[in-house]
Amino acid sequence: MRCVAVGLAAWLAVILAGCRLAPGHPPDPDSRPDQVLDFATLYDQNCAACHGRNGQNGPAIDLGNPEYQALIDDASLRKWIANGMPGTEMPAFAQSAGGMLTDAQVDVLVAGMRKAWRAQDAFAGAAPPAYAPAAAGNAGDAQRGQQTYQVRCAGCHKAGGEDIASSTYLSLVGGQALRSIIIAGRPDIGQPDWQHDAPGGKAVTPLSAQDVDDIVTYLGTLRSAATTTVSAQGGGK
Ligand code: HEC
Ligand code: HEC
Repeated sequence: MRCVAVGLAAWLAVILAGCRLAPGHPPDPDSRPDQVLDFATLYDQNCAACHGRNGQNGPAIDLGNPEYQALIDDASLRKWIANGMPGTEMPAFAQSAGGMLTDAQVDVLVAGMRKAWRAQDAFAGAAPPAYAPAAAGNAGDAQRGQQTYQVRCAGCHKAGGEDIASSTYLSLVGGQALRSIIIAGRPDIGQPDWQHDAPGGKAVTPLSAQDVDDIVTYLGTLRSAATTTVSAQGGGK
C-alpha cells in the first residue's frame, strides 16, 4: 500500500515551495485575475494542484467524488474555500481572509463544482452519517473508537509507521477532513465509503454516525498526543 503520510507531506512541500518561488503568471493587460469567472479556469489555477485535475488523484480530498458533493452543503463548501480549513494545508482564498479571490469567484467555484460533480442520488437510497459531527468538537468516545478502528480500518491501515494513525499524517488532516473521507470515501485512491469499509472493500454493516464520531475522536487523541510530545521538546507551535 502506498505510504499516505509521506505522499501527502511531500506533495504539499513541493506545492508550497512552488507557490513561494514562482511569482505567478505574468499579468495579462486584457484579463485581470479578479475578473476571471470561468469555473474550469479558476479551478485549474487555484485548486487542481492539490485536489487533482477534474477533482481526482490529487494529494488532498477528491472534490470530484459525487458522494462527497452529495454529503456537503453549499454553506460549508463556501466556508472552507473562503476561510481555509483549520488543521489542514487548505488555504483561505477569499480576499476578506487574505486570499486572492473575490466573493463572486468563490461562488463560481461552489456552483461549478455542483454542476460538474454532483450526481442524482449519489448514495443510491442509503442515508450516510451527517457531514458535521452531532456535537461540536467531535465528542465521540475514544476508547470505543479505537475498538471500531481495529475492526473496520486496521485490516487495511496497519498501525503505526507512516499510516493514517501516524502523527505525521494526522498533523496534516483535521477532524472534519477525516470525517469527510471516512463517510464519502476516496474512490480515486481506493478508500471505501462508510458502507464498504471492510478489508476487501465488501459491503458491511454501515458505520453509524456514532461510529464515525468515535473513530475521529480516537484519531484526534493520537494527534494531540503527538502535538504534546513535540511542544514538550520545544519544537512545536
Ligand atoms: C495547498 C493545497 C491546497 C489547495 C491549493 C487547495 N486545497 Fe482544498 N484542501 C486541501 C487540504 C489538505 C484539505 C483537507 C482535506 C485533505 O487533507 O484531503 C482541503 C480541504 C478542502 C475542502 C473541504 C474538504 C472537506 O473535508 O469537506 C474543500 C471544499 C476544498 N478544500 C476546496 C478547495 C478549492 C475549491 C480550492 C481552490 C480554490 C482548494 N481547495 C485549493 C489542500 C488544498
Ligand atoms: C478495504 C481497505 C480499506 C479499509 C477497510 C479502510 N481503508 Fe482507508 N484507505 C484505503 C486505501 C487503499 C487508501 C488509499 C491508499 C493510502 O493512502 O493508503 C485509504 C486512504 C485513507 C485515508 C486518506 C489518506 C489520504 O491520502 O488522504 C483515510 C483518512 C483513511 N483511509 C481512513 C480510513 C478509516 C478511518 C477507515 C476505517 C473506518 C478506513 N480508512 C478503512 C483502504 C482502506
